Amino acid sequence: TMLHVLLCGGSGTRLWPLSNKQTPKQLLPLFDGQSLLQLTWVRNSTFCEHVMAVVNEQQSEMVSKQLGEAGAQHVQMMEEPVGRNTAAAIALAAFSAPPETILLITPADHLIGTPDLYAETIKKAGELATEGHLVTIGLQPAYPETGYGYIQYTGYDVVRFTEKPNKVTAEAMLQSGDYLWNSGIFCGKAGVLLQQLLEHAPEIYAAAAEAALIWRETGSIPLAAMEAIPSDSIDYAVLEKSNIVKVVPSAMQWSDVGGYEALAEALASHYRYSNHQAVFIESDPVNSMVIGKDKLVALVGVENVVVVNTPEVLLILQKGKGQEVKQLHQWVKENR
Ligand code: GDD
Ligand code: MG
Repeated sequence: TMLHVLLCGGSGTRLWPLSNKQTPKQLLPLFDGQSLLQLTWVRNSTFCEHVMAVVNEQQSEMVSKQLGEAGAQHVQMMEEPVGRNTAAAIALAAFSAPPETILLITPADHLIGTPDLYAETIKKAGELATEGHLVTIGLQPAYPETGYGYIQYTGYDVVRFTEKPNKVTAEAMLQSGDYLWNSGIFCGKAGVLLQQLLEHAPEIYAAAAEAALIWRETGSIPLAAMEAIPSDSIDYAVLEKSNIVKVVPSAMQWSDVGGYEALAEALASHYRYSNHQAVFIESDPVNSMVIGKDKLVALVGVENVVVVNTPEVLLILQKGKGQEVKQLHQWVKENR
């Protein structure tokens, strides 16, 4: 059995106004009353009896409550007074587990539509982790996304890991057919992870060691100890550099729900919160979507829009422009 390390540090600005700092996307009860966090716990509870949730301090109470409601019993909360990205969060978790424990590290905000394929994938990843590898889960890339990691591979072997390539490189990687997307889900022994951090990111290793020690003694991490950890993602800090990384290619249906287009798609395949209070005239409801049931929304003759209907804000978004919501949110914060 493995230890499930849940990464919940997201700020959720790309799904504003639905999500915000207090209620980021992983905590929204969008899927039959369940949140992505709860679905993530359920999906992994078959492999992992114990959970360590590494969370942003402001979200801690809600994360703990939601995990309890989903049925989680052995949950350890590790609160970060400030986020220092995934390498820091993972280092803290690894320092707090026995070295032989296999950590199954997952974001709390992904949606996976094929639980059986997921289970198969994780089983294989667990086997490779037992042999002492660091194991990532790879997916068939669908388009030249520049926000993901790319894994050049043969079989389970990683030839090269490239985090967030530019557009031209991403296009070439997609064309070549030798690359997988990095899903952001991975697996390895705590001791192996620490050894790799020591080798490739010694400053993160050292500062995280101190913060984890204080956490074990007092149950919390002081702001200064957290700020002392250099901020970097595990992808740049370790995965790009390490030579013990393996990849399990998976055909599972995966989404990181990274914007409104992805959320609309996820909701459409899942169900009814969407388009709940909406009337469509002369427009294809498949290409447009209303999220939120605050008031009746009527759409006449418009296509390819996502309408986000919350008490405070009404957002009308042309599909394809979803990534601009982040800047919009920034503007609203500064100007309103
Ligand atoms: N606890 C904690 N603390 N969690 C964090 C922190 C932090 O400081 N920073 C990020 N996380 C969590 C996020 O909430 C998210 O669930 C996950 O870790 C990944 O972080 P992102 O910031 O979303 O990473 P990314 O999208 O840029 O890239 C990663 O994910 C892609 C797939 O979605 C990389 O692993 C890519 O290689 C990958 O393709
Ligand atoms: Mg992400």
